[in-house]
Amino acid sequence: MSTPAVTRTLPADATTAALRTDVAAGLSHTPKRLPPKWFYDARGSELFEKITTLPAYYPTRAEREILLREAPRIAEATGARTLVELGSGSSDKTRHLISALPQLHTYLPVDVSESALTAAARALTAEHPGLTVHALVADFLLGFALPGSPTPRLLAFLGGTVGNLLPQERAAFLRSVHDLLAPGDALLLGTDLVKDEATLVAAYDDPEGVTAAFNKNVLSVINRELGADFDLDAFEHVALWDAEREWIEMRLRSRVQQSVKVPALDLAVVFEAGEEMRTEVSAKFREETVRAELTAAGLDLAHWWTDEADRFALSLAFRR
Ligand code: AVJ
Repeated sequence: MSTPAVTRTLPADATTAALRTDVAAGLSHTPKRLPPKWFYDARGSELFEKITTLPAYYPTRAEREILLREAPRIAEATGARTLVELGSGSSDKTRHLISALPQLHTYLPVDVSESALTAAARALTAEHPGLTVHALVADFLLGFALPGSPTPRLLAFLGGTVGNLLPQERAAFLRSVHDLLAPGDALLLGTDLVKDEATLVAAYDDPEGVTAAFNKNVLSVINRELGADFDLDAFEHVALWDAEREWIEMRLRSRVQQSVKVPALDLAVVFEAGEEMRTEVSAKFREETVRAELTAAGLDLAHWWTDEADRFALSLAFRR
């Protein structure tokens, strides 16, 4: 069996350095906040996989429904010979796409998590012996170059993860996607859609408490990596809908007044009783805003597909 190539564009210690910077900045900001990318250590990725199977968490099933239905159209419209997937994680939904793309030559999964990447790359290499798989360990928010591969290319960013970027980050990200592509290459983008508040909040506050455990896991990551002493039981999971900005916010609310030490940063941080720290934004979209944001980045929306219940959308856009 052939082994997939793995290219790291991040030095081995870059992750810890970036975590230190993010935690130092986030804990000294008012109000306190942490970027969502630090949820995903091995345990966090496992909890997220569990979230995708919860009855209330509809986005994964809705997106899979669209992918299964439209894969032939995606293949026909793009003629993709290279599939680049950002934040590939377990590459589960990608399988449908790979099987549906007859001319596909190369699959390039890109993720910050080397463990998730190598496992997925190995599995896909075994399932598709003719496919060249080249895994890229990179932070797509920092910009990166693609190794040479046949065109046209299709870049997939699924799961609604684009919603975890703040508006400014999103604009910069879509611009860098544009810059990565050549004219005729395409972007396949998954976006969760604005809907009634009850459905949205339920998806981020399940009765099983899996999302609460996922949310608190970021504190375990900081404890392990930076020697901090966060007491997970001293925080409460909060999910709320911001109707103005049309995004879900996850927060951690301090149950008591407490001081938390972060030795690696030589820092002690006070949380007041009831104080809330933002841990994630998950923006929800409308067709017109997606179209406008793509257009502004030099990407032209060619197809807009939703699931039967209009909960989630897949957009196919071409680089101008
Ligand atoms: C798949 C990363 C987009 O925002 O819905 C799930 C992450 N957070 N439950 C999302 C998540 C809480 C998820 N993304």
